Amino acid sequence: MDYQELLDGAVEAGRARLGDGRVADYIPALACADSTALGMALATVDGEVFEAGDAARPFSIQSISKLFTLALVLAEGGEALWRRVGREPSGNPFNSLVQLETEHGIPRNPFINAGAIVVTDRLLGLTGDAAGAVRGFLRAETGNPSLATNREIAASEAQHGHRNAALAHFIASHGNLDNDVDAVLAQYYEHCAIEASCRDLALAGRFLARHGVRADGERLLTRSEAKQVNAVLLTCGTYDAAGEFAYRVGLPGKSGVGGGVLAIIPGRGAVCAWSPGLDPAGNSVAAVAALDAFTTASGLSVF
Ligand code: DON
Repeated sequence: MDYQELLDGAVEAGRARLGDGRVADYIPALACADSTALGMALATVDGEVFEAGDAARPFSIQSISKLFTLALVLAEGGEALWRRVGREPSGNPFNSLVQLETEHGIPRNPFINAGAIVVTDRLLGLTGDAAGAVRGFLRAETGNPSLATNREIAASEAQHGHRNAALAHFIASHGNLDNDVDAVLAQYYEHCAIEASCRDLALAGRFLARHGVRADGERLLTRSEAKQVNAVLLTCGTYDAAGEFAYRVGLPGKSGVGGGVLAIIPGRGAVCAWSPGLDPAGNSVAAVAALDAFTTASGLSVF
């Protein structure tokens, strides 16, 4: 299979959709992202990396960080997490408050903001530094020691984070946070504001394609846990558009409002596409179009 040709074709297909999305501006520091940027990278399980377009340009990973917080908590804390957060699609926007009240402060899944706040709380409890644990993991998997949090973006989100603060306080009112609300939110903003490129994220996502095995050959997750994370990515990773993403792309995937989408091809590799213009669900229009073209042309999907 000519991966380079496939990526080049996919980026071309994504380019046709540039301009159809809107850059996120509810976090003011994200609003200046370059809406014409588009990149894609594929990291195979046996160590090859292919790139197209702006694959080496760092961007704000935002909710893609939630894949790594979940994996790190499952690795350290195991099954107990699932008593505090569900694993069903929410069918609601990523920052919605509505289900939390009827569901007694137990978020639907670990990828909506409410669920990710609970996961961050657990990771903070387990490690003392949730964002640091994510950064350390990303640096190790990518071999890129300069990978870091953009403090300006983290501060901008904290300043405008009324919705996340509401979610966190509501969860705490149900006794589902162990740590101080402000400390959890600060860690959440810090891991969302990590910057990485498509190349970095494809390399960092590869452990899920390798059924839980990290770049250095160490096992992070059992094969069964890796299957479970991939399953939750497929059903919940792109929020209320998860059905459409599964239909078009056919891979487990996680999006972020920075415009990145990281998808896992179990047994084969991880592929990341990025372009800042978003659809109303918060998923990158051009990145999803590029992934759609890639799996359609290659037949590489879980179906
Ligand atoms: O909490 C937020 O709103 C952002 N830090 C992350 C949201 C996000 O990336 C949703 N993904 N598409």
